[in-house]
Amino acid sequence: MKKQTAMRPEDIDWHNLKFGYTRTPVNVRCYWRDGAWGPIEEHTEETVTLHMAATALHYGQTAFEGLKAFRCKDGKVRIFRMDENAKRIQSSASYLQMAVPSIELFCEMVTRVVTLNKDYIPAYETGGSLYVRPVIVGSGPQLGVKPADETLLLMFASPVGPYYSGGMKGISAIIDRTHDRAAPFGTGHTKAGGNYGASLTSALEGHEKGYDSELYLDPAEHRYIDECGAANFFGIRVDPAADGGRAHYITPASHSILPSITNKSLRQIAEDFGMVVEARRVELDELNTFDEAGCCGTAAVITPVATIFDPADGKTYDFGTGVGPWSKKLYDELVAIQHGEAEDRHGWNTVLDI
Ligand code: PLP
Ligand code: COI
Repeated sequence: MKKQTAMRPEDIDWHNLKFGYTRTPVNVRCYWRDGAWGPIEEHTEETVTLHMAATALHYGQTAFEGLKAFRCKDGKVRIFRMDENAKRIQSSASYLQMAVPSIELFCEMVTRVVTLNKDYIPAYETGGSLYVRPVIVGSGPQLGVKPADETLLLMFASPVGPYYSGGMKGISAIIDRTHDRAAPFGTGHTKAGGNYGASLTSALEGHEKGYDSELYLDPAEHRYIDECGAANFFGIRVDPAADGGRAHYITPASHSILPSITNKSLRQIAEDFGMVVEARRVELDELNTFDEAGCCGTAAVITPVATIFDPADGKTYDFGTGVGPWSKKLYDELVAIQHGEAEDRHGWNTVLDI
């Protein structure tokens, strides 16, 4: 390994971490060549040498993942549901015709990159985490539109804080009426890099208008809610007169949204709490019936949605500032499980003694 030049842990402003890139000493890489995955390589340089005709560069043969490791009160490190990220990168790689890494290879690489950068896992009190970013790319050359004959899987790690700076105050979202992030039968259900390239203009325009996030509708009819640019969407409905007063956790089901692992976990926790869980198409109009709204994801965790503006009719759906009681309960339980403070009853954590 070459000499490392990452920021020293003592120079990091641990209590003011944002969701941004901080260089850590080691990244890990593995190449698929001649029909097989090679050894896991450890690198200290941040750059990757790619063939100029690599399919990742001109044909968008690239996908990624995002997951977190937490330094916990008991001194141990917990990685949340990495097998689920492994399955999702398998699905993305397969759809984009790249070599598919095994769950074992993926998990070994995650464990390795976390362990090698353990001094960069934020301490428990900071509320931060070590974000692992696996990236998979077609790294072999092609001129015709064909899959690469070489695939590179790499992973780097960065200490992070909250994705939305407003945090639990609640974000403002604007419904995007001029762009779709994904096509009805396209790549929205995968974590293809192209989905994010396609969302950049939309996000920028939203920010310029003063909104924290864009909210996409289903690309076929623009009638149902899909998701935010970097997180799934959910609503909470509490009707004391229905279902014995059980609260409802309602989240869109659609081919064009990313199957969020956080959302999957929240649906399970909601069920554990005795809530009614509904994953189905959600008409825009239904926003009027929600008592709470939020977005969820690895980076976003649960971030309350305070307002949603629809430029089509100038209407603002208002869910109030701050976090609602059910969103708070779900958030607290998710975070407690991730930190080993609530029972890991579904076996979601990989615990490392490092
Ligand atoms: N939706 C999009 C578009 C995302 O980029 C993410 C982030 O990964 C999510 C949803 C949330 O998914 P997860 O909970 O697996 O991080
Ligand atoms: C995540 O939540 O892990 C994401 O990938 C969202 C975003 C930063 C693209």
